[in-house]
Amino acid sequence: MKAGILGIGDALPPRVVTNDDLVAQLDTSDEWIVRRTGIRERRWLAADETLADLAASACSAALEDAGTAASDVDQVIVATITPDQLTPGLAPAVAAKLGAESAAVVDINAACTGFLYGLDHAAALVESGRARNVLVVGAEALSRITDHDDRATAVLFGDGAAAALVGPITEGLGIAGFEFGHDASLAGLLFAEREERKLRMAGQEVYRHAVARMTEATERLLARSGVQAQDVDLFVAHQANARIITAVADALGIPHERVSFNVEWTANTSAASIPLGLAAAQRDGLLKPGALVGMVAFGAGFVWGAGLTSWKDQAALSSASGEARTSITTTRSRQ
Ligand code: UT7
Repeated sequence: MKAGILGIGDALPPRVVTNDDLVAQLDTSDEWIVRRTGIRERRWLAADETLADLAASACSAALEDAGTAASDVDQVIVATITPDQLTPGLAPAVAAKLGAESAAVVDINAACTGFLYGLDHAAALVESGRARNVLVVGAEALSRITDHDDRATAVLFGDGAAAALVGPITEGLGIAGFEFGHDASLAGLLFAEREERKLRMAGQEVYRHAVARMTEATERLLARSGVQAQDVDLFVAHQANARIITAVADALGIPHERVSFNVEWTANTSAASIPLGLAAAQRDGLLKPGALVGMVAFGAGFVWGAGLTSWKDQAALSSASGEARTSITTTRSRQ
């Protein structure tokens, strides 16, 4: 049995924080932030909002997109580094809010690569027959672990959640495979200490490693899968910096019009960034059933990974026209 993505959904907090809002408090400028990162705005949770509610909204949207009831969900996997409390994790509350009463629940932490690990685990559960419908949600409240007085990091991070429903498919490639790697010797370049609870990053060094590792991982995965870079219909790299995404796409030879650049509106949302990019692309009509999607992430650990999946093959099967792989023209999106 193969596993595939059946539905996608996202949720962003209502509060928009623009670059100009930050200029009022920091020695920075809209010009610098846009030129060095591509970021124009980000969303932040309010003090009385919970990440569990945001994650549950994203999951509801994914279930609605798939036409699946919450009662049919067998497992909820939440990828996050910022749960509302140290313990419990988010997954029990998310399942309860959804009404997924009989679901197994688990949080995983692989920083920015968390959503790809969640997809891999979900596909394994479905393919082995241990579960039928698995929700994977990347959810982050990075504003809660940001040093808002440090201009080097304060402008970079945002909050958000996005979810994919993974289930069995009868036709198509499905969730094809992953290439994961890690290097703990460089953990000191990107971390948050338990006591301080603030993200600290050696930006330039992380940048260099991010480009190299994401490029290598994607190259290995494509070679192993017998796929050429030009066959990829949409490439969704971790949305940390538009310059990093561009550098990786250029190294791989993927044209920019097939690359997601959602970072402009979300900033860096760690585990939520790839599914937010997928949801935005579908909303913009850029991800048609049957499309081939490449994904790649890099973050704290260092932990990185690349993944390859086809998009909603079941929907392609049931569509009257049978049209698949519609070409992608642009991937900029604002929710
Ligand atoms: O999600 C996990 C993975 N994370 C990443 O992949 C992020 C990787 N790193 C980056 O994206 C970039 O390194 C940053 C966006 C963090 C920084 O961009 P950069 O081009 O590497 O800038 P820099 O750190 O080399 O700083 C260049 C200059 C410095 O000034 P001087 O020393 O040249 O006078 C900084 O002090 O820019 C200054 N600077 C700023 N200026 C205005 C740093 N932050 C700001 C700011 N506004 N917000």
